[in-house]
Amino acid sequence: MTITSGRVLVAGATGGTGRRVVDLLRAADGDVVVRAMTRDADSESSLRERGADEVVVGDVLTPDDAARAVDAVDAVVCTLGSSPGIGTLTSDFADGEGTKNLVDAAAAAGVDHFVLVSSLGVGDSAPGMQLGLRLLFRGLGVLPAKARAEAHLRESGVTYTILRPGGLTNADATGDVVVGEGGDTVSGSIPRADVAGLCVASLFTPAAADRTFEVVARRGLRGTPEGVVDIDWQTAPAAARPDPGTEAVEESESAD
Ligand SMILES: NC(=O)c1ccc[n+]([C@@H]2O[C@H](COP(=O)([O-])OP(=O)(O)OC[C@H]3O[C@@H](n4cnc5c(N)ncnc54)[C@H](OP(=O)(O)O)[C@@H]3O)[C@@H](O)[C@H]2O)c1
Repeated sequence: MTITSGRVLVAGATGGTGRRVVDLLRAADGDVVVRAMTRDADSESSLRERGADEVVVGDVLTPDDAARAVDAVDAVVCTLGSSPGIGTLTSDFADGEGTKNLVDAAAAAGVDHFVLVSSLGVGDSAPGMQLGLRLLFRGLGVLPAKARAEAHLRESGVTYTILRPGGLTNADATGDVVVGEGGDTVSGSIPRADVAGLCVASLFTPAAADRTFEVVARRGLRGTPEGVVDIDWQTAPAAARPDPGTEAVEESESAD
């Protein structure tokens, strides 16, 4: 994957973070082919209008669909999420087993780089999520599922970058992100637009390879950060365009 060419799969392309990743990849200079994945065939036209060159309709919980999605791609940006509820009582989590399927497929297909949006609160970043939410999401099984997906990616042999954002908001990108490394580092919130920017930057930044970062916006920072690292992000993708579907600023902090 170079800054000027390559095919990138965006898994979760219809989601709040994923559609901003599509925007940024589309806006980047060069000849990047953007492949978007969704379970919903009706979303194909809107994804193409947004700038996706290719759309794969499939479910990551089905290994054959995961394999189809990564066929001939150079990189994966995985922004999959699942809403805990009845569905996840009877089925696996898209951001757990589903991500693991995608990682396995990526390894088999020889994908160069896999960027995974995980969450503060996962694994050794547990203190970064407020206790009540952490207990809730651990109890629902989301945090353990994400932890298994992270571990699976680290062990896959595929070059990876794992981003663990704090509470996601729909505010505009700030471009001023505090990046921690080591688990118990930062806490707070971050716009999805900033996370999308980091996803794309990770693809082009050698220093981001095989590392796990905790990320919050400086203005969303809670408490005193520890383990802050200075990464020389190697790309400056254009700012995500305003997302007409998500104008409201949402200050949720959850792992869903
Ligand atoms: N909410 C927070 O405050 C917070 C905080 C930290 C981290 N996070 C994490 O950040 C990530 C991104 O969150 P977000 O809010 O931007 O995502 P989101 O809007 O919930 O989007 C989720 C995406 O996952 C896709 N998806 C779900 N199940 C799928 C399946 N089985 N197969 C294929 N695609 C599937 C959906 O696509 P279709 O429906 O089109 O198939 C959708 O595009 C998630 O992992 C989330 O847990 C969230």
